[in-house]
Amino acid sequence: MAAALFFFFFFLLSFFVQLCSSSMVEDKISSLPGQPQVSFQQFSGYITVDELRHRSLFYYFAEAEMDPSAKPLVLWLNGGPGCSSVGVGAFSENGPFRPSGQMLVRNEYSWNKEANMLYLETPAGVGFSYSSDSSFYESVDDKMTARDNLVFLRRWLAKFPQYKTRDLYITGESYAGHYVPQLAQLMVQFNTKEKIFNLKGVALGNPVLEFSTDFNSRAEFFWSHGLISDSTYNLFTSACNYSRYVGEYYRGSLSPVCARVMSQVTRETSRFVDKYDVTLDVCISSVLSQSLILSPLQVTERIDVCVEDETVNYLNRKDVQEALHAQLTGVRKWTVCSSVLEYELLNLEIPTISVVGSLIRSGVPVLIYSGDQDSVIPLTGSRILVQRLANELGLKTTVPYRVWFEGKQVGGWTQVYGDVLSFATIRGASHEAPFSQPGRSLQLFRTFLSGKPLPETF
Ligand SMILES: *[C@@H]1O[C@H](CO)[C@@H](O)[C@H](O)[C@H]1NC(C)=O
Repeated sequence: MAAALFFFFFFLLSFFVQLCSSSMVEDKISSLPGQPQVSFQQFSGYITVDELRHRSLFYYFAEAEMDPSAKPLVLWLNGGPGCSSVGVGAFSENGPFRPSGQMLVRNEYSWNKEANMLYLETPAGVGFSYSSDSSFYESVDDKMTARDNLVFLRRWLAKFPQYKTRDLYITGESYAGHYVPQLAQLMVQFNTKEKIFNLKGVALGNPVLEFSTDFNSRAEFFWSHGLISDSTYNLFTSACNYSRYVGEYYRGSLSPVCARVMSQVTRETSRFVDKYDVTLDVCISSVLSQSLILSPLQVTERIDVCVEDETVNYLNRKDVQEALHAQLTGVRKWTVCSSVLEYELLNLEIPTISVVGSLIRSGVPVLIYSGDQDSVIPLTGSRILVQRLANELGLKTTVPYRVWFEGKQVGGWTQVYGDVLSFATIRGASHEAPFSQPGRSLQLFRTFLSGKPLPETF
């Protein structure tokens, strides 16, 4: 009896603590304009990461469709650097809705079928996230981004205490190949002092992990897909490779030979082929622009090809911003990729594959996956990097290179090392895999969370 009473009071107490200690209630979205009826809860709003300089990061959180209290918490980050995880990730890739005209339509392959999905606009200056002190934007780098992301996560967990002990995964794509490992490393370090992050795994899609291996895989990818001739391939691998071109370009010291080689490559590949999916002929600018920085020559070409953007229209509606508890600070429009941020672009050259290695050593399982039609960060570079890392760590193959299935079709290929480091391709997928192959991506995500190898049969 006494025990029952105790538990009753304990229950009451924790109920009130939750009510009072958090303003999570005020971040609850009652309904997004044009959305269909759903059973899960959504939240969005700001977490201040720097009181002194008034820096606040904006998040959108979609609880799991069913049984959220039994499902993990997953943070998703898009890349750029400087592009929005809300606009690209949530509303174009793996979130519950996609804008269509005035309405939102359900995404049948939303990742919130498997997890509680948290999307963060980072660093400040991206999307609805802001710094009132605009001098912050003048030079932002990987270190600052990772630090702010860590503060965000700690404070977000304080606001949503029921998620504090929940299994936590960090996922992302493209330049998030920097953001995610760097954040995860800070979390692992923080945990040695005070264990507050229940980090269970990391998944990275078409990530930038090692500048020269990733960027120089482009030549062979172009050549083997028929986008460039044999002679141009020779130039692009001997006279000037892509990593050298990008390095020179961002240092403002483009050599004549690199300028010549790149103009020939660009002429042959044609601007009417989508570099993020060489088989795709449509253009969705919100999905594509996160990688513009990874392909600097194409910046001016791309804009004309992409006319309309549902996400840009939707997120710029006043009623939508009100429903999201979002505001524009220091910018006139919400844009997919930041127009105010000056990111240290040469941070591209910082290798993060070694950070991935240290995460694995700390016991955090990692999945590197690749949409196999992407020429920007091709699967071949990622596969080499994973294989090399496995060798360095002395990890033996536990699942030999083989196909995996989604439904009755091959979803891609996979290999697993030491049960902690996995590689997988997604067949027919672009740089933004959940956008172009949503079913296969959801299968991959589900299996990743389960900790098991991808299905070998159907
Ligand atoms: C790319 O070019 C740089 C500079 O010429 C060179 O150091 C590097 O080895 C090249 N990488 C590849 C993969 O060819």
